[in-house]
Amino acid sequence: MLIEEHKSLKDYNTFGIDAKARFFISVSEISELKEALQSKIHPTIFILGGGSNMLLTKDIDALVIHINFKGIKVLKSDKNETMLEVQAGENWHEFVLYCINNNYGGVENMSLIPGNVGTAPIQNIGAYGVELKDVFVQCAVLDMQNLEMRVFGKEECDFGYRNSIFKNAAKGRFVITSVQFKLTNSSHNLSTSYGVIKQKLEDNEIENPTIKDISDAVIAIRKSKLPDPAELGNSGSFFKNPVVNTETFQKFRNQYPNAPYYEVSSTQFKIPAGWLIEQAGFKGQRYGDAGVHKNQALVLVNYGNATGTEIWELAMKIQKKVREDFGIYIEPEVNVI
Ligand code: EPU
Repeated sequence: MLIEEHKSLKDYNTFGIDAKARFFISVSEISELKEALQSKIHPTIFILGGGSNMLLTKDIDALVIHINFKGIKVLKSDKNETMLEVQAGENWHEFVLYCINNNYGGVENMSLIPGNVGTAPIQNIGAYGVELKDVFVQCAVLDMQNLEMRVFGKEECDFGYRNSIFKNAAKGRFVITSVQFKLTNSSHNLSTSYGVIKQKLEDNEIENPTIKDISDAVIAIRKSKLPDPAELGNSGSFFKNPVVNTETFQKFRNQYPNAPYYEVSSTQFKIPAGWLIEQAGFKGQRYGDAGVHKNQALVLVNYGNATGTEIWELAMKIQKKVREDFGIYIEPEVNVI
């Protein structure tokens, strides 16, 4: 195992923050992961996946273990369904493209989401009306307390909006090593109701879309709104969309009758944080190398050499102003380290 010291993590986080790891090991097998965990190189362990949902505000004084397990295995395939086991270090979007190429349906709406397969369940990634939980069967994990493997089924994962047990009761204890998916082979369950997708398909004069048509539409939409981390450091949506109760919602609606919203249940309403941030005047603003994206105010960006602290200070400024202007608290979606 190659142990690196004071390694820059700039290429390992999509914000492109130049924080350093005291020790760094990249593991490609479970045996290597166990070896690294037992190595006693440093008392603190930090597990790193695709680095697409974190903001590094300081150097990491720990042994950083980069999960680089690769491989996709077909477990079962019949006329209707295919079960796949995908290793945690596979890039999410490459996995989606593999599914499109093999005509496995279910993940096409989640095209181009940055990050790795193994970290996708942690925040139950989602886009355009579909969430990871819709195709998830189970995941295999290594318990860092006893170095034993175990399986988490869908119920146990307790998925919610950008949430799961891995952000709550199971936080920090398990390393997801692989994920099983159930996908369709025929009669794909297409999800085209999301306004922008419908529009894109209409613009392209597609009446009976294939999963590839949907994936292409999602890719085009995302490219037009969301910056490519390879070109402009970012971590997707920086905040979650706040979910408010009826009382707060009514007050908000009376004041801003034209604001967009989604009804989550009869007593819960989701208000787009991007809209709130734009109305608060931040869209397209730049403070040194930290900024708010010009096409999607929910995305904070690093123009080159922003530090994690600078991005965090901007995030807190936005959070405060949104609270002052609307009385609504927006919670970061990214993990701040
Ligand atoms: N809006 C604005 N100004 C903005 C951005 C958005 O007014 O600067 C308005 C839009 O006009 C629209 C509404 O807010 O009416 C919602 O915008 P959009 O459809 O772009 O989606 P979102 O709620 O901002 C969520 C996810 C995205 C996901 C999209 C599409 C969260 C936190 N974000 O964004 O996920 O791609 O829906 O499903 O739920 C991510 O998690 O990193 C991510 C990119």
